[in-house]
Amino acid sequence: MTSISRRVFLKVGGGVAASVAIGVPELTQAATSLPVVEGRVNLPYQMKAITNAQKLQVNTPFSFFYPDAASPCALIKMGAPVPGGVGPERDIVAYSMLCTHMGCPVAYDAGQKLFKCPCHFSIFDPENIGQMVSGQATENLPSIVLEYNPKDDSVRAVAVEGLIYGRQSNLL
Ligand code: FES
Repeated sequence: MTSISRRVFLKVGGGVAASVAIGVPELTQAATSLPVVEGRVNLPYQMKAITNAQKLQVNTPFSFFYPDAASPCALIKMGAPVPGGVGPERDIVAYSMLCTHMGCPVAYDAGQKLFKCPCHFSIFDPENIGQMVSGQATENLPSIVLEYNPKDDSVRAVAVEGLIYGRQSNLL
């Protein structure tokens, strides 16, 4: 059995304590100089032109894929300004079409302006950043971050907010 004298224990313990005491101010300084948002990572998304704003019909989904061919999305011109909306009327938004519960493709109900999942009936609100309204899902629909270029009327996807269903990272 290994034993350690009280004197050795205090010496080692004191050394560790001294190291910690010395290290703390440096860590604090580094932490304040590099602001970090917990749980968020900046991924190198590609910019992708989706369509022109003038081609969009109000309340009618426009399908595309982003950030890759395995990720179906829908762009919608809601007809009135909404949170996160882009374009001349600040009313164009886009979302992943994969339900955050178990990945079924959601369908757009134009009458209610809601995305509905046919598998277990989760409902998401595109006028409110894809908020989960009811059902089995516990996460909002991932929203596609858009940019609008007034010079050529183009709408571009530039990132994704939220984790696309079934992925450990939005970029494979
Ligand atoms: S997969 Fe959409 S609610 Fe279950």
